[in-house]
Amino acid sequence: MILRASRTAHPNQALGTSAATFESRDVSRGVFLTFEGSEGCGKSTQVKRLAARLARKGLPFLVTREPGGTAIGEKIRELLQFAPESAAMRAETELLLFEASRSQLVREMIEPTLTQGTHVIADRFFDSTTVYQGAARALDPKIVEQLNAFAIGNCRPDLTIILELDVAAARGRMLRRVRPVGTPDRMEQEPLEFYERVSAAYRELPAREGDRVQLIDGSRSADQVEAEIWRILWERFGANFQPRQPRIENPKSKI
Ligand SMILES: Nc1ncnc2c1ncn2[C@@H]1O[C@H](COP(=O)(O)OP(=O)(O)O)[C@@H](O)[C@H]1O
Ligand SMILES: [Mg+2]
Repeated sequence: MILRASRTAHPNQALGTSAATFESRDVSRGVFLTFEGSEGCGKSTQVKRLAARLARKGLPFLVTREPGGTAIGEKIRELLQFAPESAAMRAETELLLFEASRSQLVREMIEPTLTQGTHVIADRFFDSTTVYQGAARALDPKIVEQLNAFAIGNCRPDLTIILELDVAAARGRMLRRVRPVGTPDRMEQEPLEFYERVSAAYRELPAREGDRVQLIDGSRSADQVEAEIWRILWERFGANFQPRQPRIENPKSKI
């Protein structure tokens, strides 16, 4: 069945209230949202909550994670995060593996999904590379930027939510987190200074990226964070989150 966004206006639009600030963007294309922030800041929690909300509204969506999200990407993920060989991995190799995983994810999953009108919620995307491989591992930021551009092509997020949480609080949450595998991954074993650089680099992103990124205080309850995220999304993309109606095809119609 072919679906497209309903053209019904949100009631607030008629009243001239805040919903009138809906971005004018193609409603037939899905919205591409990415979640960023240090380990333990609450990304996966909020990705799940947003997915549940879209599901309740009957809106189509796809959730992806990085590295991974495709068969090739999941192999790369294993190599990057848990394989014993990764102990010898150089920063340059790590950068290229992340970009390889991302290139595949964009072309195989994200772009075709957005084109067919399905929203995409990504748990990490290219800003993670800017921050982790660029700022925290101190690789040349210009090269990181070029490789990011090569990997994503024109597929830039419509909005990136960065959950801010101080390093100590994030550590505390990670220690309490129940992980099925039991062992921390390679990034999670980095020293505190590494995470201080990660945090600082995330805080600098809005100055460079403008409206595309939005910092959110992640120290509040999951409910409060979820409510703020939805308020922002509704304000910016409310027109894209209207209920979907099946398109009635009339092959004889000239329009
Ligand atoms: N707002 C919050 N307040 C308290 N604990 C939280 C909050 N959001 C997430 N958590 C908990 O913190 C841990 C890390 O959250 P998670 O969503 O896995 O973070 P991330 O994906 O960013 O690493 C999990 O145990 C989760 O249940
Ligand atoms: Mg997570």
